[in-house]
Amino acid sequence: MEPPQLKYESLAERLADLIRQGVYRPGERIPSVREMSRQQGVSMGTVVQAYVLLEAQGWIEARPQSGFYVRQKVDEILPQPQPPSSPPDPTEVSLHELVMLLLRDSQNQNLIQLGAALPNPEYLPLEKINRLLIQAARQGEAAIHRYQFPPGLDKLRVQIARRIVAAGCNLAPNDILITSGGIEAIDLCLRAVCRPGDIVAVESPIYFGTLQTLEVQGLRALEIPCHPNEGMSLDALAFALQHNQVRAVLVSSNFSNPLGSQMPDEKKKALVDLLNRHEIPLIENDVFGEIYFGGKRPLVCKAFDKKELVLLVSSFSKDISPGLRVGWVSAGQFQQQVAWLKSTVSAASPTLAQYVIAEFLASGGYDQHLRRIRREYARNIELMSSAVMRYFPAGTRLSRPAGGFVLWVQLPESVDALRLYKVALSVGITLAPGHVFSASGQFNHFIRLNAAEFNYLIEKALETLGNIVKGMTAESH
Ligand SMILES: Cc1ncc(COP(=O)(O)O)c(C=O)c1O
Repeated sequence: MEPPQLKYESLAERLADLIRQGVYRPGERIPSVREMSRQQGVSMGTVVQAYVLLEAQGWIEARPQSGFYVRQKVDEILPQPQPPSSPPDPTEVSLHELVMLLLRDSQNQNLIQLGAALPNPEYLPLEKINRLLIQAARQGEAAIHRYQFPPGLDKLRVQIARRIVAAGCNLAPNDILITSGGIEAIDLCLRAVCRPGDIVAVESPIYFGTLQTLEVQGLRALEIPCHPNEGMSLDALAFALQHNQVRAVLVSSNFSNPLGSQMPDEKKKALVDLLNRHEIPLIENDVFGEIYFGGKRPLVCKAFDKKELVLLVSSFSKDISPGLRVGWVSAGQFQQQVAWLKSTVSAASPTLAQYVIAEFLASGGYDQHLRRIRREYARNIELMSSAVMRYFPAGTRLSRPAGGFVLWVQLPESVDALRLYKVALSVGITLAPGHVFSASGQFNHFIRLNAAEFNYLIEKALETLGNIVKGMTAESH
């Protein structure tokens, strides 16, 4: 039997409920100890104890000489993964039907878009990019109609080589190969290092596009649990390597999708050292690497690679234009193989798109643009997190992204995310059910929300979703 609640505990619980319901909102002052004691008919000592408890739980913060304020940050964070008790089993992937539905939804202008990880169109430098497109067409440069066979447009590769220094890599332009988006780069890397039936260790949860690529290539996913803030558990990975013939490992060390986690530098180094020792290639997906909320461009794992075994992938889809489809890869010792595979798949990527991105990077506006969107995305994540905590039932937990623009939400266990997806769709809202982030069905009561945008309509949609979830939770009782 649970011990009876003390007075201050029940007061703290009531106040946490009021914060959840939005009676007191992030950044607002809550009543002083004296006011609260009068209001609630309890002693000032009880209120102080309740406030200390709320502070420890992360609901409120004390500001010297000013009072207590509802914290901006939401603290119902995800739990740490449990260490595995037995070796995980590699899983065949089969998710394509559901993923195709999500892609279809993402094109539907009548839906509130909380599903696909689409960047906010208002935060893309469209005016400048469109001007460069027109300029390229006006100048009638024959060059933009020529093939740019692998490794791709020299001017763009020079720009990328200059930028990636900040992430700890000294790459020559010839170490870089231009692809059609990050997903093509991942596909080529997997083809270069794996054969059908091989096992690839991946983050769990993981971006569904990567799972699709594994599915198409007949590869098996070995899902390694991830810490919500620090990414893949290296203990679990080391354990998995002992029990399985792992052919490659795939991580997003900076701002994984969906967790938004950022691996600390020493952990990145430990991961690379471990895989260098085992001679296992690491495919590193850094498509969100530039959208960081800390003060500094985080390093990539490749910065620690001593054996040319890290294949670093990125793209300009999240911060410049998803539609131009420009990505790149630096594949270390597999570079020639990846270049050859690229030439067999599509010969070259569109020259015009490469030209425009190269001109944009060379023009110098990119850093200013990035500074702005980092601020905006951090704020939108904050606002969406607060709204979820306001409208969703108790027991809901959230990721605390260090970058990117997606939010990972753990719902009460009785809620089936696929059912929620279907009901939400019927009222005009699309979201990504946790089912597509695991090949082995580990996240069926999770959802991923695209937090790139936040406005009144989205807040209303979150309220609606919260009510649906509450209804589903009540049904199960
Ligand atoms: C983690 C991750 N990798 C790769 C991609 C695909 O990138 P691209 O559009 O450049 O192919 C996405 C898109 O959502 C993503 O979230």
